[in-house]
Amino acid sequence: MSALAQTMLGAVLPGNSSTHLKTFDVPTPGHGQLLLRMKASTICGSDIRCIYHEHLGKGPEGYQGFIAGHEPCVQVVARGPGCRRFGEGDRVIVYHISGCGVCNDCRRGYMISCTSQTYRKAYGWQRDGGMAEYLLADEKDLVALPDELSFLDGAQVACGFGTVYEGLEKVGISGNDAVLITGLGPVGLATAMLCKAMGAQMIIGIDVIDERLRIAADLKLCDHVLKAFEDNVEQVRALTGGAGVERAIDCSAHHEARATAIRATRKWGSIVMIGEGGTVSLNPSPDIIHDQKTIHGSWVTSIWKMEELVERLVRWNIHPEQLVTHRFALEDVGEAYKLMATGKCGKVAVCFDEALTKSH
Ligand SMILES: NC(=O)c1ccc[n+]([C@@H]2O[C@H](COP(=O)([O-])OP(=O)(O)OC[C@H]3O[C@@H](n4cnc5c(N)ncnc54)[C@H](O)[C@@H]3O)[C@@H](O)[C@H]2O)c1
Ligand SMILES: [Zn+2]
Ligand SMILES: [Zn+2]
Repeated sequence: MSALAQTMLGAVLPGNSSTHLKTFDVPTPGHGQLLLRMKASTICGSDIRCIYHEHLGKGPEGYQGFIAGHEPCVQVVARGPGCRRFGEGDRVIVYHISGCGVCNDCRRGYMISCTSQTYRKAYGWQRDGGMAEYLLADEKDLVALPDELSFLDGAQVACGFGTVYEGLEKVGISGNDAVLITGLGPVGLATAMLCKAMGAQMIIGIDVIDERLRIAADLKLCDHVLKAFEDNVEQVRALTGGAGVERAIDCSAHHEARATAIRATRKWGSIVMIGEGGTVSLNPSPDIIHDQKTIHGSWVTSIWKMEELVERLVRWNIHPEQLVTHRFALEDVGEAYKLMATGKCGKVAVCFDEALTKSH
């Protein structure tokens, strides 16, 4: 500990589309806690929607002025008493919600929906998060990062890829399926990457922003990209023999895109809603009942599934880092949020040390 700096820089989000870099004390790990050197900290669409532009939401979505960033990937620099698994030098991903550990949701590994009002705290919302040089985390919230994966791979697992994996496990994806993805932000692009790895042979993506359609096409993540607000349902049917896709994943939260996802799904198909906020209107009988469709909701993932996902990423030899189009140093964190808010980018990352310039 003695070699460590006493103070560090960290960014908070005042809620008026700006960022504020401040000096904080470097924390000391307590029982069961580790001090972590930040390596990569990526920005999620939820940060923009719920914190950056304005402070939206209560409870699990309420930002309480802490250091922002809920997608941290780190290296352990100091270990508090009572830690059982991780120690100095270990590379780890932070599952971004710390739960009470003893409610039913926590026991299932879904700390995202921990029911304790006192102990449930999300990193970057109700306790300090990833946009700082160091982070204090509870050992129970950490997932080992395999050597084959980079810090930028790991950061995206902390929320985005973990969330997508959970949603795809709910609907099941295989080589049998044509898949529609509405919204090609980092979450939609992650969906395409994982669907491809799971064997989907036809992936159709829809977005409003040309840059995102281009990224999906250039990285060969989607077989077809469609501009939103055209007759997307007819376009998808035309690409799928008139029947529609077997699986649709909404990653946009836009009411029209959600309706497209539901209507462009064929009989007996499944839809999963990942994009958050907004509404959708549907006519149950023609849209789902008569065609025997199932709609799932999916919120983040469990910590054991996150461990399973990192193992799969290695087996599939795919790298979430591929989706990162822009890296910034912490000093330029304001530019990072500003860019992500435009949507004219893939994944935006704030990086530290070697992660700023290279992959491992
Ligand atoms: N369910 C969960 O647990 C969970 C976890 C993480 C993120 N999210 C949510 O997932 C969503 C996606 O996250 P992201 O980081 O990719 O955010 P993002 O805002 O960058 O991506 C949303 C994309 O949807 C596109 N879009 C908007 N209207 C559209 C339309 N009519 N048709 C097609 N596309 C349209 C936007 O252009 C954008 O590219 C956000 O709503 C985020 O809050 C949910
Ligand atoms: Zn998120
Ligand atoms: Zn709990």
